Amino acid sequence: MVGTTHHRLNINITRLTPSATLAINEQCQTMIDEGKQVFRLGFGQSPFPVPQIVVDELKKQAHQKAYLPVKGFLPLRQAISDYFQRTEQLSYSAEQIMIGPGTKELMFILQSVLESELILPSPSWVSYAPQADILSREVTWLPGDLVSEPDLIPAALDQICADNPTKPRLLVLNYPLNPTGATYNEQQLEKIAERARHYGLIVLSDEIYSGLHFRGEHCSIARYYPEGTIISNGLSKWSGAGGWRLGAFAFPKELDDLRLAMTVMATETFSAVTSPVQYAAIKAFEPSDDMDAYLDTSRMILESLLNHSYQQLLAAGAQLCQPEGGFYLFPKVDHLAQRLGINNSVALCSAVLAETGVAVLPGSAFGRPANELSMRIACVDFDGAQAMAAASELSQLPDGFIQQHCGRTVEAIDRLSKWFLR
Ligand SMILES: Cc1ncc(COP(=O)(O)O)c(C=O)c1O
Repeated sequence: MVGTTHHRLNINITRLTPSATLAINEQCQTMIDEGKQVFRLGFGQSPFPVPQIVVDELKKQAHQKAYLPVKGFLPLRQAISDYFQRTEQLSYSAEQIMIGPGTKELMFILQSVLESELILPSPSWVSYAPQADILSREVTWLPGDLVSEPDLIPAALDQICADNPTKPRLLVLNYPLNPTGATYNEQQLEKIAERARHYGLIVLSDEIYSGLHFRGEHCSIARYYPEGTIISNGLSKWSGAGGWRLGAFAFPKELDDLRLAMTVMATETFSAVTSPVQYAAIKAFEPSDDMDAYLDTSRMILESLLNHSYQQLLAAGAQLCQPEGGFYLFPKVDHLAQRLGINNSVALCSAVLAETGVAVLPGSAFGRPANELSMRIACVDFDGAQAMAAASELSQLPDGFIQQHCGRTVEAIDRLSKWFLR
């Protein structure tokens, strides 16, 4: 018959709904198109511009047109290997670094070349589990509320792994954590590393927010479990360049077979990351006064805004972790269930959006039980370029700075807090 194709969609795809983060972004856009006021605290995009030295380099390198090596441009891989040496005292040769079009793509390729059960603490970022679902990999959420009790992770690993200790497993740890803003301290990382080694787990250490640790004190689990850890990092968050699509993995020598398998997959899928972006990214990873100043200013603004927001939500009766890095907060308001007549996080976020104009994401998208009244807040609705320009010469923010320069987020948190207290 003319105009009819014979096709069948992959059942694993049809079972998935579009990523919650992208869906809320579209919903906000629709409301904005209708002339409604929306505070965009759903989508986790850096509010800050890409550092000027990185932008200038991209302009200079715009003529680079050749395909670069599948593994990535060697000078960039060398700059990243130097970066890990400088920031973490971890030694990777350039050969052990792989560049991809965003870490999300590298994570998908990792899960596709591994036949492993995926182990996730709850809450976790929204895309790890759907990627496993697409690939028909088993997903196991560690039991317990690990939001408030990260010390329980080693025991939770025992609970999952002890019965079948040699089963191939991939544990994904993200810190500073999207969605809670918390991170793991060195003792916690050491204990998780000890259990991971015991069970021969591969740890994917998602450190995409490392550069936004408020005190610049991020520490990688690779320091305690180098032979089994793959570090994931990139330009998207601390360098404000999510749309440039550049991510990197650092592999231990012990996982060379895995790195090579990923390179084969890369050859047959994305080929190489955009050449000018790879040239420019070197400037983000190399040490420079410009990058130091950019990171110091980003951290100072985020720390002040996140702490202010944390205090306000806490005073409004929400339960949440004290943020230590990144953009996010993850309040729980289970005590409001009866008063609001709401019994799940999706309905909660929909009511919040309708009644306050504040867009946030439901806790269920992050692996929390559907009936937990939790939400992820991304404190990013402000003009980051303007805030950064105002803060650039300051070593400390004056009183009133965030009200003046991050006003939309401050107002959104205020509206949300009042709504919780109604
Ligand atoms: C925890 C976490 N990991 C990974 C990513 C993906 O980053 P990329 O832009 O490198 O694909 C994100 C993006 O939101 C994230 O929040």
